Amino acid sequence: MGQNNKIAFHPISTLTGECEVPGDKSISHRAVIFGSISKGITEINNFLPGLDCISTISCFQKLGVEIKQKTSSTVIVKGVGLHGLLEPYDVLDVGNSGTTIRLLTGLLSGTKFYSVLTGDSSIRKRPMKRVKEPLQQMGANLMGRDQGNLAPITIIGAPLQPMHYHSPVASAQVKSSILLAGLWVDGQTVVTEPTKSRDHTERMYTSFGGSLHVDGNTVTILGGSPKLEGQKVNVPGDISSAAFLMVAASIIPNSEICIRNVGMNPTRSGIVDALLAMNADIEIINERKYGEELVADFIVRSSNLIGTEISGDIIPRLIDEIPVLLIAATQAKGKTVIRDAKELRVKETDRIQVMHDELLKLGVITIPREDGMEIDGEQEFTSGTIYTHHDHRIGMCFAIAGCVAKGPIFIEDYDAVKVSFPNFTEVMNSLGAICE
Ligand code: S3P
Repeated sequence: MGQNNKIAFHPISTLTGECEVPGDKSISHRAVIFGSISKGITEINNFLPGLDCISTISCFQKLGVEIKQKTSSTVIVKGVGLHGLLEPYDVLDVGNSGTTIRLLTGLLSGTKFYSVLTGDSSIRKRPMKRVKEPLQQMGANLMGRDQGNLAPITIIGAPLQPMHYHSPVASAQVKSSILLAGLWVDGQTVVTEPTKSRDHTERMYTSFGGSLHVDGNTVTILGGSPKLEGQKVNVPGDISSAAFLMVAASIIPNSEICIRNVGMNPTRSGIVDALLAMNADIEIINERKYGEELVADFIVRSSNLIGTEISGDIIPRLIDEIPVLLIAATQAKGKTVIRDAKELRVKETDRIQVMHDELLKLGVITIPREDGMEIDGEQEFTSGTIYTHHDHRIGMCFAIAGCVAKGPIFIEDYDAVKVSFPNFTEVMNSLGAICE
């Protein structure tokens, strides 16, 4: 890597070989959370040692839980049970992790102690109202900047009441925050979403011995301090990380790669459906169960992509993959239209605006919309420099773009990729990418 945390990805003529991607980010967070509030030892294998999940570990350590990384991807949690969490001696710093701050706000609302959650400059701009409002309806005592909409968030633990919440957004962070608060409630907590969001919390809770009921887009949990027991958790590879490699192999000519052990939870696999609709050549083999989750191996070959429309119920199943789908769309024949994806505006960055601005620096024209984007295919990337805005997925998008550009693409603030894919450069190199 060059100076100033900058790297160049160069055009290449093929991407080939076999690889794995690191563990799933959403599942790694939840394994630490449920391990901490269970009784006994939890061993997490293939844990994602990305900065977001390390932030979750460090928050629980401050809450009195002993957590050790035996290796970078093997984590041992000595669970203390829900009532064993202790008042933290300091502010809990979630770094860049929206999942950590939203889920912990719910979980800590029902304690008997005082805690404060904050994070980096991106986290301090992200909306907390979406969890603050329902949690306050349950009786939570929360405060924050901008009338509780922004971190730092202060929580004074309080008794919580049963509630049926109809969420206006399909968000696993909102759903999980409320369900975790619901663990303290003597009675039922119910969350109904407009469309089903990722269900890793529900699956993980079940595997730790908890019981809940799922009916369509409604989840019901019976609280009152359930008895959860430590488990051995094998974390599947992150499909959101695999997405970058899937798009890369699809658009770099003469490519064939095999990505092993990728999570195939149906609430996350929208990227596969979208790429198949774009005429991608993806073979899914060895589908198997991994505890409560599903995994498979993917063989992806280059193909002539065609533009498509991505909208409606599929959006929550691929929300994090839309930026890289835009990279695929630039190389497709015909127009791609993304709609119903307003949530992109409140991710680590405003991903509609940032993708528009950074693509433009490389000569690629897009039409940003309030809830998505339109982009014509068959556009070439010129050589140039882009800035990640400290958003990991933006960094990886332009690494892939560099592989098919007219000349090198320089990525400033490249370290951001460590949030979710710490060995991205090494994996890309092993498949034939040229970066320096
Ligand atoms: C996540 C949920 C999604 C996703 C994020 C991780 C989770 O956010 O974008 O990267 O682990 O629950 P929303 O719940 O806001 O949709």
